[in-house]
Amino acid sequence: MRNRVADHVQKLQPSGIRRFFDLAANMEGVISLGVGEPDFVTSWGVREACIASLHNGHTSYTANAGLMELRQEISRYLAQEFEVEYSAANDIIVTVGASQALDLSIRAIVDPGDEVIVIEPSFVSYAPLIELVGGRAVRVGADAERGFSINFDDLEAAITERTKAILLCFPNNPTGTMLTRDELIQVSRLVEKHDLLVLSDEIYAELSFDEKFTSFPTLPNMKDRTILISGFSKGFAMTGWRLGFVAGPTDIIEAMLKIHQYAMMCASTMAQYGAIEALKNGRQDIEAMKKSYRRRRNYFVASLNEIGLPCHNPGGAFYAFPSIKPTGLSSQEFAERLLLEEKVAVVPGDVFGESGEGYVRCSYASSLEQLQEAIKRMERFVKQFR
Ligand SMILES: Cc1ncc(COP(=O)(O)O)c(C=O)c1O
Repeated sequence: MRNRVADHVQKLQPSGIRRFFDLAANMEGVISLGVGEPDFVTSWGVREACIASLHNGHTSYTANAGLMELRQEISRYLAQEFEVEYSAANDIIVTVGASQALDLSIRAIVDPGDEVIVIEPSFVSYAPLIELVGGRAVRVGADAERGFSINFDDLEAAITERTKAILLCFPNNPTGTMLTRDELIQVSRLVEKHDLLVLSDEIYAELSFDEKFTSFPTLPNMKDRTILISGFSKGFAMTGWRLGFVAGPTDIIEAMLKIHQYAMMCASTMAQYGAIEALKNGRQDIEAMKKSYRRRRNYFVASLNEIGLPCHNPGGAFYAFPSIKPTGLSSQEFAERLLLEEKVAVVPGDVFGESGEGYVRCSYASSLEQLQEAIKRMERFVKQFR
């Protein structure tokens, strides 16, 4: 046997977030700003709906694309909240988290050698998922000077004959950056000019704090070119349920469904029943969580700036992405020393791509008391470099 593990898997790097998470998990008294998940428990109504589904014996597979009732609720939700119409029967698949929606989207459209543009710093799974199918992730650094917004000259310069799609994420993980409607329209012009597709990861859509969220497929001529990826993990505080969805043009959704049928059959049945309830009656819970995140963002970002870690004001999600350049440390050194010396876990920015070097990601989905204590410790840590 030449080798037991396939070459393309051997070449994959393990996620840099996990490494820090594991390090922190083995230490006592750590304040973790490391993990990207809500600190709320899923609302009780949703949990009850799941329990009721078990009482009612709903323990078998659902349709491959998901329960029709759930797809209808997703279709209604997208129309009401984001003003975009998708057919429950043909244009939506319920997936195992937004993670599987991303994987399916990429597998359905990328041939070996195709290029997909990823704006970095970006969520850690994008480039590996593209590379796993033999595609090439073309990384374009975001414009740090403008709060990590897109640099359109760099974006257009990265487009080649082989470019198939642009992968967008806003509000962004790890920077929290929102793209304005005007910026999205600029992207859409490039998409039309160069005949591309867009993978729009809108998992944080519910958590945009300062302006109305624009869903990419609502832009002129973009619906037929966009695969919309979203889910329940972040806005609905349902990370452990592993439930997401993808919506898009019928031909691409059909292609994805073929892969989904073979790879996954369907998403978890009881989780799907919970999600129906989340969409029907869970909206007021989102509002309360969003208010709380916004309050924490305001405190945390202002405090970072005060202690000498310059941070742009992130328009959404629950991440702050401060510069640690004033300390003279690399992102890895900063994160490692902060953890060892002050027991605060953050994620080094370079795990989100080269352009994240000089920054760290802090998730502020922690209690205000924990955030206050984290700031105290970070201030003590940063002072030694003045
Ligand atoms: C930008 C982004 N996309 C997708 C995901 C995956 O979400 P899910 O839990 O729904 O698989 C995450 C999770 O951190 C994320 O930050």
